[in-house]
Amino acid sequence: MSQVTYYPNEVFTPTLPAKLTFVERAAVDDKLVRALQTPGKQIVVFGHSGAGKTTLINNKLEQIFEAHITTRCIAGMTFEQIVLNAFDQLSPYYKKDVQFEKSSGRKASLQSEYEIVKAGLELSSSEKESSTSSRMLPPQLTPQLLGALMGDAKACWLIEDFHKVGESEKVKLAQTMKVFMDVAASYPDLKVVAIGAVSTGREVVKYDQEMSGRVAEISVPLMANEELRLIIEKGASLLGLTFDPSVERQIVSLSNGLPAICHQLCLNVCFAMNVISTAMPGRAVGQADLDAAIKMYIDDASDTLKERYDRAVRNRRQGRFDNGRIIVKALCEFDQDGAAYGNLHKSIKRNNADYPAGNLTQYLKELQSPERGEVVGLDIASGKFYFSDPFIRAFCQAKLGVNPGQLRSTVWMKLISDIANMVEATVEANRKQEKQGSTKEGSE
Ligand SMILES: Nc1ncnc2c1ncn2[C@@H]1O[C@H](COP(=O)(O)OP(=O)(O)OP(=O)(O)O)[C@@H](O)[C@H]1O
Ligand SMILES: [Mg+2]
Repeated sequence: MSQVTYYPNEVFTPTLPAKLTFVERAAVDDKLVRALQTPGKQIVVFGHSGAGKTTLINNKLEQIFEAHITTRCIAGMTFEQIVLNAFDQLSPYYKKDVQFEKSSGRKASLQSEYEIVKAGLELSSSEKESSTSSRMLPPQLTPQLLGALMGDAKACWLIEDFHKVGESEKVKLAQTMKVFMDVAASYPDLKVVAIGAVSTGREVVKYDQEMSGRVAEISVPLMANEELRLIIEKGASLLGLTFDPSVERQIVSLSNGLPAICHQLCLNVCFAMNVISTAMPGRAVGQADLDAAIKMYIDDASDTLKERYDRAVRNRRQGRFDNGRIIVKALCEFDQDGAAYGNLHKSIKRNNADYPAGNLTQYLKELQSPERGEVVGLDIASGKFYFSDPFIRAFCQAKLGVNPGQLRSTVWMKLISDIANMVEATVEANRKQEKQGSTKEGSE
């Protein structure tokens, strides 16, 4: 009997969309599949960074669509660059020699329109000897034509990280979505799926009221504990491992809704146990393996944790309040589920009686953004603000001297204080090393 061999890094994928351990997301699956199967429906997917948007969409698109084109946005990208990126990816569908002679009227005319745009692009880039980033959008490449080219290729258009582009570009995408809705009469598969790591759909695409019935806004929540447990179990069974139930529970707790942490800890467990590929069934994962995995996690993440903490508490303006620090410290006093706005404000007021609600609103928003290390998340369902991962929470507690005395279980409490100590120790060791390095350099 031949047995398929799996390797830990293809099973546990902290930095790539999961395939082998993909778990269906009960809370969003139906809505997403309905939207994908409704002709002309445009889709906006949003949610906390790392909640599983890319993984979910990619797995569903593969199940439902023949093809899709992915454009990844970076800060400062213009809508023209985004359109050009998609157009470039259409080239396999419009190769000159592919059945061109035999193709029917609509296909032939699309093919020739494609050629005209392509020639226009080549001309503009050779004239300017410019890089792709400054190519001009030829006037023929209208949203209508892009829609028809994509529709004919039966390709759906996935735009990743759309929250990174400017406001005016978001309006342009909304206009393109509108055109795609109309073109959908001829091309039912035609669709834009725009993804953004934000907390509302409107922060991803600025579409107007009249379009709202034809845009599905899909929120991908943080993972439920049961879903995280399934990742561990699926991976374990592929690799022939058996996780001790208490180890499994701790990994689920530490992940706190973020599947990337779950994958990373499981992968680290494999490193710690020296699992090279599918092991003999029954190899058990115990507390010592988890401890080693956590240590690896901290070794790798300590500098990032420290940087995120520094961003969160830094004080740029000399105002009356040290806002970042005040809010983070107050949040440290709650458990990992976090606190509702009112309770957080109450807790802050104990030390800062006249702390304004306006500051709390503004800085809570900032603390969710990359500028402040994304240390805070907002759970829309419960209305609670919480630390976006338990490791950053432990580090903040350690730095701000908050005694996490009210934590629920003693195992969890010990874990948290161990993490804080490890982060501190690692950051300190790195700092010493850097210092030694720079004195050495200086003396050379
Ligand atoms: N449904 C799932 N089943 C198993 N693992 C998942 C699932 N969804 C996400 N993951 C894992 O979680 C991690 C983050 O997922 P993903 O990159 O899809 O999140 P994201 O929301 O797109 O994040 P970002 O906002 O940073 O782009 C990856 O390691 C991925 O493998
Ligand atoms: Mg993503």
